[in-house]
Amino acid sequence: MTLLSDQTQLHPDKLDAYWMPFTANRQFKAAPRMMAKAEGMYYWTPEGREILDGFSGLWCCNAGHNRKPIVEAIQKQAATMDYAPAFQMGHPLAFELADRVAKLAPPGMDKVFFCNSGSEAVDTALKIALAYQRVKGEASRTRLIGRERGYHGVGFGGISVGGMVANRKMFGTMLGGVDHLPHTHNLEHNAYSKGLPAWGAHLADELERLVALHDASTIAAVIVEPMAGSTGVLMPPVGYLKRLREITKKHGILLIFDEVITAFGRLGGATAAQVYDVQPDMITFAKGVTSGTVPMGGVIASREIHDAFMVGPPGAIELFHGYTYSAHVLACAAGVATLQLYDDEGLFERAAKMAPVLEQAVHSLKGTRHVIDIRNFGLAAAVELEPRAGAPGARTFDTYLGCWDDGLLVRQAGEIICFAPALIVEESHIARMMETLKAVLGRVA
Ligand SMILES: Cc1ncc(COP(=O)(O)O)c(C=O)c1O
Repeated sequence: MTLLSDQTQLHPDKLDAYWMPFTANRQFKAAPRMMAKAEGMYYWTPEGREILDGFSGLWCCNAGHNRKPIVEAIQKQAATMDYAPAFQMGHPLAFELADRVAKLAPPGMDKVFFCNSGSEAVDTALKIALAYQRVKGEASRTRLIGRERGYHGVGFGGISVGGMVANRKMFGTMLGGVDHLPHTHNLEHNAYSKGLPAWGAHLADELERLVALHDASTIAAVIVEPMAGSTGVLMPPVGYLKRLREITKKHGILLIFDEVITAFGRLGGATAAQVYDVQPDMITFAKGVTSGTVPMGGVIASREIHDAFMVGPPGAIELFHGYTYSAHVLACAAGVATLQLYDDEGLFERAAKMAPVLEQAVHSLKGTRHVIDIRNFGLAAAVELEPRAGAPGARTFDTYLGCWDDGLLVRQAGEIICFAPALIVEESHIARMMETLKAVLGRVA
């Protein structure tokens, strides 16, 4: 094998300083899994071993890896202007990217605020929601409602409205005044659903219970992932999001869709809002906007929300919020090139076209050892495993490791193996992903 990188020579001491995120550091450093090169649907390890990417990196490289137009746009921009101040100053690519994002968004949602990650996008949206209620004269609306099993990144706002206990329990009381809807995952009713599960729309009515408990006049916003990705690809039950929209509207509560995973093609359209035909008041995005190449996130807000801030003297700053790297010029260059590539290659339509291929392939694993559920929508799919007695997550982690050993990158979420291939995926890649997982499940204890 050709060595791709001198990272193969890394002495164990060199692994010491990096405190890795969401990683079992000691276990990893004892047996590292490194990537050194990527192209199209593949990664290569430093030793030159090929890994089929079944997960678009981490739900983000939607256009596939190292796509030439994106790489060239970043290179060109880096050589032209490295950085421009973000406050009281602009650069043309920021306006161009905002315009392109707005054109992809649902009608009336045409104001775009930039930040650098999904977590920042969530905190930005929550802050806009609170500030919006206040500028509208409804300052008593300070509560935020999230959902169990929701993932909204790792900022204090995001973990407060999020619903993953491991991400919350170590970090004190977080934001006050937050409550949660129940999650919608139910194997008894919905196991082996293809597309949206039939059972569970009524779970949106739990919002009425929270309104009865807290009173609508105290609630600023509800935030949900239209499809919950990080806790294992949980699809919204048929009718659930529409119901949530009706109830939020009735009570003057803003609805935020966290589309960090779902925006930019994952479900076969520009946003989940359009695919599911439910319009929120704000959409958060990140990942796919630059196909994972340069960190970027943002919030798409309705014109109504934005315009509520455009009062007072024209020289006054309307929203005291922003980041040094908001609309970073390298990210904007990557974003413009990425959205152009999605358009040129019709990749959102391609995702919709490949969705039935993934559905058929992943559901063919029904009956495989350890499997207790399979679900899918768009180019996202999950295979849920029976936990090993007394060792939560262990079987699924072994499965994830087995896939890595066999040249396939998947993602483990608790007892769930997740797939989210790039939108350029071919039928043969999908077939190889399923064959690999099947073979691994055949040998994992
Ligand atoms: C729905 C959702 N929101 C927020 C985030 C956080 O994004 P980041 O890791 O870029 O901060 C993620 C990350 O996976 C996500 O899936």
